[in-house]
Amino acid sequence: MGYLSRNDSLCPCRTDWQMIDVNIIEVAPRDGFQAVRAFIPTETKIALIEELAACGFSRIEIGSFVSPKAVPQLADTPEILKRAQLPAGTRIMALVPNAKGLHLALDAGVKDISWVISVTESHNRSNVRRSVEESFNDFAAAWEGLGRDKPRLRLGLSTCFDCPWEGRVPEEAVVRCVERVLAAAPEVEIGICDTTGRAAPNHVGSLFARLMPRYASNRVTFAYHGHDTYGLGVANALEAWRQGVRVIDGAAGGLGGCPFAPGAAGNTASEDLAFAFEHMGVRTGIDFGRLLAAADRVAAVAPDQSGGKLRAVPRRRALSGFGAESHGVPAEATA
Ligand code: COA
Ligand code: ZN
Repeated sequence: MGYLSRNDSLCPCRTDWQMIDVNIIEVAPRDGFQAVRAFIPTETKIALIEELAACGFSRIEIGSFVSPKAVPQLADTPEILKRAQLPAGTRIMALVPNAKGLHLALDAGVKDISWVISVTESHNRSNVRRSVEESFNDFAAAWEGLGRDKPRLRLGLSTCFDCPWEGRVPEEAVVRCVERVLAAAPEVEIGICDTTGRAAPNHVGSLFARLMPRYASNRVTFAYHGHDTYGLGVANALEAWRQGVRVIDGAAGGLGGCPFAPGAAGNTASEDLAFAFEHMGVRTGIDFGRLLAAADRVAAVAPDQSGGKLRAVPRRRALSGFGAESHGVPAEATA
């Protein structure tokens, strides 16, 4: 089966997408920055975030509300949220690991909460020093405690495919976690995360083929969050899209990696994702030329930890012969 084009009416609520066929969420200002060892000055972070926001991302993950001892790089998140000037309507998402983080994020004005729990015990312990059971209980209590006035929620499930300590993760374990999420939060975006980058497209396909028909609805959506450690980031994202997932995370410049998951390299580069989708005629709403320039700037904060393919393509080629309307036209012919 080929990829669906924009004319295929896969999604019954297409008009709600406002002419966008896939929503790439920019996560460099969280997953990307957190992996960088040397402290990135707050001013630099703000300038990069403003530049990324100007590329047209509808949602950006900015920082986290975690222990500053665990991730000192993101300790300036409240200050960034106060000072960054973003286009009206840009949704700001921030990561939280516990009730304390949830309340700090809400106090800082965050309206999109990204709460993270791992599917595997070992990664959850490494990441948040709790058992999976404790984390789900903490989440359920904190979420219930908010009463009726709840923010938007992404519940990010880490290690859905592979764990640095436990290896390949059984699909049944992910299904059990999805059910626990839904028991506590029936209205949610569930992030299916390939934390280490070891997923392969057939694994991504089979997991989503199991999850989407059973759980996706107008109240429950799925997002895919992948890393490009083994060069499969774009292929995995395309497979998630083919299974109906319309929210895909990427990090400009291919920065990223979980400090609590040894061996995890950068996120799949947003510019690689944008190119792949646009080239298939799947609209992203992103200004690709501007994103390439922004990605160079993001990568410059930690060149040894950056990645992605498209920044290495000569700019003139990357920007021409590109997109649905030019299918089959050699790059040089339209330059
Ligand atoms: N934000 C800021 N400080 C926090 C916090 C939060 N969300 N949660 C706990 N703390 C503080 C506590 O107030 C306490 O401070 P004190 O020592 O001054 O009294 C200290 O951290 C220890 O609190 P405790 O609840 O015992 O936490 P812990 O030591 O068991 O660590 C986490 C648990 C979740 C806070 C910690 O592991 C963490 O922040 N992990 C972040 C993981 C992450 O960001 N991973 C990358 C994204 S996937
Ligand atoms: Zn990640």
